[in-house]
Formats: sequence, C-alpha cells, structure tokens
Amino acid sequence: MKTKQKTKRSDKRKGDKHQGLSGEDLAAYLDVKRKKAPEGYIEVESYPLKPPFSYAFITQNEDTAEFLYIVDELPLTQEEKEAYAKMKNILENELRAPEEEESLIQAFHRQLPEIMANHRKILREISPIGTKKITYYLERDIAGFAKIDSLMFDPHVEDISCSGVNKPIFLWHRNYENIKTNVYFRNDEELEDFAMKIVHKAGKHVSIAFPIVDVTLPDKHRLAVSYGREVTPAGTSFTIRKFRKDPFTVIDLIKNETINESIAAYLWLLMEHKMSLIIIGATGAGKTTSLNAIACLIRPTHKIISVEEVAEINLPHENWVSTISRSGFGIENEGEIPLFGLIKSAVRHRPDLIIVGEIRGDEAYVLFQALATGHGGLCTLHAEKVETAVKRLTQPPMNIPPGIISLMNCAIVVKHVRPPIFDQTGTRLSSRKFIQVSEIKNASTIRGIFTWDPSSDTFQEELSKSFLLKDIAKNLNVSHERLMRELEHRRKVLLWLTERNIRDYRSLHNYLSKYYRSSPSEYEKLSEKLSR
Ligand SMILES: Nc1ncnc2c1ncn2[C@@H]1O[C@H](COP(=O)(O)OP(=O)(O)OP(=O)(O)O)[C@@H](O)[C@H]1O
Ligand SMILES: [Mg+2]
Repeated sequence: MKTKQKTKRSDKRKGDKHQGLSGEDLAAYLDVKRKKAPEGYIEVESYPLKPPFSYAFITQNEDTAEFLYIVDELPLTQEEKEAYAKMKNILENELRAPEEEESLIQAFHRQLPEIMANHRKILREISPIGTKKITYYLERDIAGFAKIDSLMFDPHVEDISCSGVNKPIFLWHRNYENIKTNVYFRNDEELEDFAMKIVHKAGKHVSIAFPIVDVTLPDKHRLAVSYGREVTPAGTSFTIRKFRKDPFTVIDLIKNETINESIAAYLWLLMEHKMSLIIIGATGAGKTTSLNAIACLIRPTHKIISVEEVAEINLPHENWVSTISRSGFGIENEGEIPLFGLIKSAVRHRPDLIIVGEIRGDEAYVLFQALATGHGGLCTLHAEKVETAVKRLTQPPMNIPPGIISLMNCAIVVKHVRPPIFDQTGTRLSSRKFIQVSEIKNASTIRGIFTWDPSSDTFQEELSKSFLLKDIAKNLNVSHERLMRELEHRRKVLLWLTERNIRDYRSLHNYLSKYYRSSPSEYEKLSEKLSR
C-alpha cells in the first residue's frame, strides 16, 4: 500500500465553526491541546467530527503502512474532570425520561440548564470554555454513545465494531476500509455497562441469560451484541451498522456507478410489473442499501408490506406497512412472532409487493408461496453468486422445490470491488457494483442480462436474452420493440434526473408518480421533454 501524503492538520481546524466558541483563545487552546501522531506514525489527515470538541485524526505507521484512526477529543483538566464527575452523578439522578416524541438528546438539553443552575456551585471555578467541554462530555456519556460517540458522527464510517475487552475498536471507513482506532474498553465492567446501556436505548434487554441481541437503535442504526463471556470468550462484542439519515436512492447508485441508467430502467420496468427480485451478496456488500434503492422504483400507489428482523427498510411510499419479527420468552419461546408468521399474515393484507429484509430459514418457503399467488417480492440473501444462492434456496432449511425457483424472476449480485482506479495519492479506490443482473428461467438456466466487466469498469448488456421483457410485452399486449422504446424512455428520464441531481427520496418519488400518472403516449412526450 502506498504511503499517504502528509497534510497540514491545523489549517483545516482553523477554518471550522466553533459552535459559538470561536475566538483567539479557543484557537490557541486547540493548538496547544491537540494530539500528536504516535511514535513511528505520520499524520495523514484530520477532519471535524463534533467541532471544536472532537476530530478524526488519521495516521499511518511508517513501517507497516497500517492506518490508525485517532479520536482526538479536547481533554478535561483535573479540575474540570472533578466537576464533570459530580455533574454526571447529579444528572443520572435528576434527569427525567424523555417526553413523548422527544429524543434522549432533546430531553437532555431541555433539562440541563435548570439542573446546572441548581448546582451552579460545582461549576463556579470553571471557565466558560471548560463548562462547554464538560457539557460536551456529559451529553456524550449520558445521552450519546459514550466512548464511541464521536465515531457515530463520522459520515465516512459504515460499521463500528468491538471484538472484546482491551481490543481496539475497528471501523469500516469509506476511504481506509478496515481501520483500527485508539478507542478501547479497558475492562469487562466498562464494556458490559456500555453494551447494556445501548441495548436499553433500543428498548430491549441483554443479559447472561439472553446474551445475543439484534436491535434497531433510536436513529435506526443496527446493533448486534454478544454479551458477556458466555458465547464470546474474549468478552462482550458488538457491531453497529450506521444508518444513513439520507438513504441512497437509485439515482445515487447511478451517480456512484454501482449501476448505470440502463440497469435502473430495466429494474424499474420489472418493479412496475410486480416481478420478484432477490439481491445476493456477502456481508456488508450493500444488499439492504440496494434493496431500499430499488424499492424507490415501485409504483407509488402499490401496497407494500415489509418484513424484517431489524428495521432497516425505509420507503417513501404512503401505502407501506413495516413489520418487525419478535423473539419469544422462556424455554417455550412464548410470544415469538417469527418472519414466516409475518409473511403469512402479510399475504392476508393484500399487498402488491412483499419485501423481506433477509431470508435465511423457513420464511423463504412462505415467501415463495406468496410469489406463487401473484404477489411481487423483493428480498436479500447472503451468498456470493446466483448459483450458490439457488443451492441455498433449494437446500435445508429453506427447502424451496427446484421446480418453483423461477418464481424469483431476477437475481442481482452486489459486490464490494476494487477496480483499477486510483486517487491522487495512489490509493486504489473501492466501490460497490451490481456485478451481475440475471433472469432465472429455472434452477439450472440463469441468464446474465447485465454483467460488470472489471477490466473496463463497464456494464455489458444483453437485453436480447431477456425473457422477462418478452413476458411483460406479451402481458401488456404490445410489441417487443414498443417495450424496448419504453425502456429507452425510462433510461433517459433516469439520466435526466441524475444530471440534475434530483436524488432524494421525496423528489424522486414525486417524479416517478408524475411519470406513472401519464398515459403511455404521454410517457414518450414526457421523456422526450425531460431528455431535451
Ligand atoms: N452502492 C453503494 N455505494 C456506496 N456505499 C454503499 C453502497 N451500498 C452500500 N453501501 C454502504 O455499505 C454499508 C453496508 O451496506 P448494507 O447494509 O446495504 O450491506 P448488506 O449487504 O445489507 O450487509 P449485511 O450482510 O451486514 O446485512 C453501508 O454503510 C452502506 O451505506
Ligand atoms: Mg443487510
């Protein structure tokens, strides 16, 4: 791996807004207190996380070229530490639970001024900057994610994971991939307390008796915890998959070249005609993100029911019902509502489309039954390629009879790839690609319609092999040529939206609604107008 260029950290910092703390004093203060690269490491870059209190400071080992992510937080003086500890104690006793519709952070800031005023003696000797720093740490440790709070503010971080006591927290960073941090949990008590606290944030419980939980945190981040040393001998471990507040849409996928407009137009036609689609890939490949982005293309009036273990699906459709499975209690698993129960129930609500976050077990069979009765379906499956996915589907515990595999019409393989593209510093860039979009004729005949070619970093298309488009044309009673023209119109519409950066969920949804409301002949006029 190439060594990164050294950049000036202080320049970037001086330009930051200091949340009302700007001024000579603070700038000088920041310069004095900022962290230095550890011995044997060079500075790579620094960027604000929660300025002026915390920064990401990326360094690189001169011998091994390994990167190290340092959370650079303004430290407290001894006096400030003591005041912080007293205030923390008081707040833990006096803070009341959030009111309805209020977040933990909002409740914290609503009550803090009064509690601080009631105990002003504690902060009497502390400077205004010191008080701001104490407030930062109180918010971080009481309402936020404590030690890892700053990491939650880094937009480049996808996953945060801890594999035990005294082991560095690792991140999956968009620019540096797996990167070690300087953040550690020093003992079992600290780590277990932390894990228990964040699981509570999700309104759930974790203990030695129930050590494994998978939950959605209040801001929709996905959290998986193995608690204590029962199942993880190195101590509690956890992984947080950060949720993007502004989710990727199909336009984002075109813009960052995960797909191109032709793939998007093709998937749009399939979605409109309630074809079923399975997204395949390895862990973290981008299955759920792709599922969400493709689901934006579903006709705005279609009734959708989503079924998941952990809430990750997020749709702009008004007629969308989200359902989440529930684990049971006690030896008998009393009160359990498994995925397959939810799919069975979904069918009775007459949806046009059922979306299953991830299929793993007997719910796959129920989903295929739903597909057999004319519902559309979208789901993801953990597998590296279509052939392995078909094998998984037809073997226990899914047991789909090979004869009905083709009820799943289309399979997409999404992959995290490293094409031969480099940034200015010589680092090979990585990205996600739909490496294959295939139609499933039967368990042994799978036709690649779009294939990503790594050497040219382009998508090869073979639409002439598509039997789904032929089926759609037949059902619509239009010629194949007419349908191909329609596909081309949609491609232009998507290109037009991409060029104008009309990418967010709402705007995209509005444009699609407009397109769907137009008669077929108006489609053509509209797309011609749009592509002009
Ligand atoms: N096409 C994409 N372009 C850029 N980033 C992406 C893309 N797809 C996914 N990501 C990012 O990759 C991370 C993992 O994505 P996602 O949760 O969709 O993966 P997954 O395959 O569903 O993982 P898992 O197997 O753990 O469920 C997320 O942080 C997401 O923002
Ligand atoms: Mg997923």
